[in-house]
Amino acid sequence: MNKRSFIKSLAALGIGSASIFQSKAKPLMLENLDFSAPDIWDQIRAGYRLKPDYINLENGYYCFLPEETLEKYIEHIRAVNYQGAFYMRTVKVADKANSAAKVAELVGADPEEVVLTRNTTESLDLIISGYPWKAGDEAIYSNQDYGSMQTMFELASKRWGIKTVKIDIPLHPESDEEIVEIYRKAITPNTRLMMVPHIVNITGHILPVRKIANMAHEHGVEIMLDGAHAVGHFTFDLHELDCDYYGSSLHKWLSVPLGCGMLYVKKDKIGKLEPLLAPFDLKLKTMDYLNNTGTHPVATDLAVLNAIEFQEKIGGKRKEDRLRYIQRYWSDQVRDIPGLTVNTPKDPSRSCGIANVGVDQVTPAEMSKILMDKYQIFTVAIDGAGVRGCRISPNIYTSTVELDKFVSALKEMAR
Ligand SMILES: Cc1ncc(COP(=O)(O)O)c(C=O)c1O
Repeated sequence: MNKRSFIKSLAALGIGSASIFQSKAKPLMLENLDFSAPDIWDQIRAGYRLKPDYINLENGYYCFLPEETLEKYIEHIRAVNYQGAFYMRTVKVADKANSAAKVAELVGADPEEVVLTRNTTESLDLIISGYPWKAGDEAIYSNQDYGSMQTMFELASKRWGIKTVKIDIPLHPESDEEIVEIYRKAITPNTRLMMVPHIVNITGHILPVRKIANMAHEHGVEIMLDGAHAVGHFTFDLHELDCDYYGSSLHKWLSVPLGCGMLYVKKDKIGKLEPLLAPFDLKLKTMDYLNNTGTHPVATDLAVLNAIEFQEKIGGKRKEDRLRYIQRYWSDQVRDIPGLTVNTPKDPSRSCGIANVGVDQVTPAEMSKILMDKYQIFTVAIDGAGVRGCRISPNIYTSTVELDKFVSALKEMAR
């Protein structure tokens, strides 16, 4: 469908352009997308309700929903509310398992290896706190891991007397082997588990996790990947990655409503973990044993299916290519400009939609404030773990016109 017929079809639905983004906006159903249409990404952009007061380059926290998914989510809230306890007592469990199975399919895992959680925090904390630690065991993680995941290891250290070992991830590695070697050097005979970011949240650096997993396994060490920003962002297959544990936040790049994550545990490792919250039956040793979170908003679990449906309409690989393209669209223009520092590797295979850039003469906090106040561009400041700049995370609705504005703002700030 070209732009004109698309707008005509909106008119036929009674959605005039002025009213598209009113609170009663009807979802723009992205059926039968023609990806050869030159304005295809404009059509996709039109499926989102965007605030006109700033350019949102901070989707890394939460990728809010396209209208199509939002409307279906609201329908689920209504349906659950209508059925009340009847829904909860009859189909809730099967529905949640069905959504988890769909997520498993998306990430290349078996349904019995995946459960829905509230977020990455819950998924990874469950592993760190439920691990069969003995005093003197060692765990490795990095300076660029997420703060509260690092402090969960510190808590484990207090509780079980384990030793934590922190490595530094280079911002611009020469090769995969350089990174693998850094992790390898931190291993001792007491190392049990290493946490590795699949993609570093502050720079967008994608790590060679399969190679790190191979090396870890050769030393008898297990590997837990923090994939908070990976699912729905770029394509991968968990069995191919061969990690032991994996957590992700589905409200990030998969655009599931807030409060939804996933946990993967390799089949033969499930029995060795203790749950974060007690299940009803302590004898059960399945993923359900690990996953009793009590009563919670079930409409979110139902909307997982709609988010995956939306993702599949775009196509996972096509979305990945688009996200990488728009990141490179802006970062290639500023990488060599004096006064600016791009904190994301240049090799395209080491990043996707997220990157980080700093203006040398101002602090990250000042930079994000100037971007917002002067240029109406919303980002987040990062100042730590050797990274000084703003994280830039556009989404598939981001236009190159918006990125041109961002690039000219950066150029002006560098001057
Ligand atoms: C790398 C990484 N891990 C974990 C988290 C925690 O995610 P959540 O707050 O969804 O649990 C985040 C959040 O941004 C993150 O970037």
